[in-house]
Amino acid sequence: MYEILEKKQIAPSVNYFRISAPRIAKRRKAGQFVMIRTTQEGERIPLTIADADPVEGSVSLVVQEVGKTTMQMGKLKVGDVILDMAGPLGKPTHVEKKRHTVVIVGGGIGTAPAHPIAQAHKNIGNKVISILGARNKDLLIMEEEMRKTSDEVLVMTDDGSYGIKGLVTEGILSLVARGEKISEVIAIGPPVMMKFVSSTTRPLNIPTTVSLNTIMIDGTGMCGGCRVTVGGKNKFVCVDGPEFDGHLVDWDNMMLRQRSYQDLESESLNRWKEHGSKGCNLHRMADEATAKEETEAKHE
Ligand code: FAD
Ligand code: FES
Ligand code: MG
Repeated sequence: MYEILEKKQIAPSVNYFRISAPRIAKRRKAGQFVMIRTTQEGERIPLTIADADPVEGSVSLVVQEVGKTTMQMGKLKVGDVILDMAGPLGKPTHVEKKRHTVVIVGGGIGTAPAHPIAQAHKNIGNKVISILGARNKDLLIMEEEMRKTSDEVLVMTDDGSYGIKGLVTEGILSLVARGEKISEVIAIGPPVMMKFVSSTTRPLNIPTTVSLNTIMIDGTGMCGGCRVTVGGKNKFVCVDGPEFDGHLVDWDNMMLRQRSYQDLESESLNRWKEHGSKGCNLHRMADEATAKEETEAKHE
């Protein structure tokens, strides 16, 4: 069991959790993730380790509420426990001393997984410029943390409510236009953003790494749920990734597969909203049915 030590809302529908997990906190490296399960009947979902404190024995997760399991997590409080947390999983980010600047692009919730990667590059002495993208100022997360691990931060908002109005790709082009020499771009965010970052950097010959957020079921390479095509070959994001060469990813296939279970996901969310969110899980329904039967039996 993994106890929640701290929880705070950092943007609408986005929560930060600090969770006791001493073994994972000691072993995790930038780019890795955990598979968590909140309840006995619940599904497993992958979440990136946004930060860790090996001395305290805790890991930080930043979770956006998009469906049943993440909303269920949003209801947890300090002192509650996460039932299972497997990890650290996935290959760590490849970090080496670069000749020129490393540009880290975090789109929306993608800034959370981008943070440990920026930290790792800064720690070995690379020049790091971070570009943070959000639809508007309220949806921007972890700006302060990214400023601490970057030499410069560009904030791009779609509506211009904060920073520069525009897309993260325009941020990359503005760096190139001012003569910034870039050794690598690392992009994490919605697939469509990573696709466009990759198509912007390809003609510029800038090596580009992306962190893929495919559907994962077991997280151990056994189920095939996270299969993607990279450079014409089948890869499993949970064991071969999550980071890949963005110029080689078959984005359209990846996005199609990510939407495969949409009907079931909304059905599960609706069912949970009707019952689960009010604390009415299957066990409680069964207990209530038994209690009703016992009461009826007593009156007979
Ligand atoms: P659902 O309604 O079930 O699904 C909503 C959407 O989430 C789906 O359409 C699908 O695109 C995606 N999704 C659903 N189930 C899964 C699944 N089992 N695995 C992956 N994606 C799924 N989100 C964060 O908020 N913070 C993170 O740090 C983070 N890190 C991730 C790291 C990796 C390696 C991957 C693959 C995904 C990461 N995600 C992260 C995405 C997160 O796993 C999904 O948002 C979550 O599983 C949605 O579950 P749900 O039941 O709330 O939503
Ligand atoms: Fe099952 Fe990757 S999640 S193979
Ligand atoms: Mg789900």
